[in-house]
Amino acid sequence: MSEPLDVNGLRHVAVIMDGNGRWAEARGLVRTRGHRVGVDSVRQIVTESARAGLPWLSLFALSTENYQRRPRHEVRTLMALLRRFMIRERPTFMDNDVRLRTVGLVDDLPPRVVKEIRVTEELTKDNGGTVLCLALNYGGRRELLDAARRFAVDAAEGRLDLESATEDDLARRLDDETMPEVDLLIRTAGEMRISNFLLWQMSYAEIFITPTCWPEFRLPQFEEAVAVYQGRTRRFGRVVTEEDR
Ligand code: FPP
Repeated sequence: MSEPLDVNGLRHVAVIMDGNGRWAEARGLVRTRGHRVGVDSVRQIVTESARAGLPWLSLFALSTENYQRRPRHEVRTLMALLRRFMIRERPTFMDNDVRLRTVGLVDDLPPRVVKEIRVTEELTKDNGGTVLCLALNYGGRRELLDAARRFAVDAAEGRLDLESATEDDLARRLDDETMPEVDLLIRTAGEMRISNFLLWQMSYAEIFITPTCWPEFRLPQFEEAVAVYQGRTRRFGRVVTEEDR
């Protein structure tokens, strides 16, 4: 087996897995075939992240817009793939010490899918390796709005002092209060957008965009993204000093 990926300096990698449909169409296949092969990429990226000791990996598996606006049969296939993934990958998660978490309006997905997600979350909750966070029926603005609602309620009920409130007070009211800020955002299939993904957590993320479609995004492409990240100087608004170079 090859050396594990060097994830030094990385705490949270987020991925917009795009281009499944294009990958399939370019090969004369039905779009859903792209999603099926995309699941193999998910498995590989998750196991490699775990092997490397990456603390947190977030995958944009389904936006609220995808869920509401895609053709029904495609959404059905995605739901079936997701449910099967939840059941079949339990040994992968347990063998690799992966903990599953989710963000998004998961409870609005079909009940038989939600059930398997919850079982997997419960099963893996004490695993201490990589956190695999799936964004499902997710939108960043909705997440911020819900956080603002909780914030307002807590202020009105005296649990939060508005005068002294900090950014952390809002961050703690996001879908997953334990999610660290994103260090590296990877987007496949070439589009130059962040598409309403993890808006708050992405403030200082380095962005890596590759023309490779998600079904072909495997370890070598992941290694390239991480290497490019490690070659960059993160300034967080500071001036670059000699130490940074
Ligand atoms: C974008 O491709 C991808 C998605 C809408 C879903 C991603 C889903 C998977 C990889 C499979 C299911 C996930 C899990 C975790 C089991 P697209 O169809 O929008 O591509 P296009 O832009 O080329 O049409």
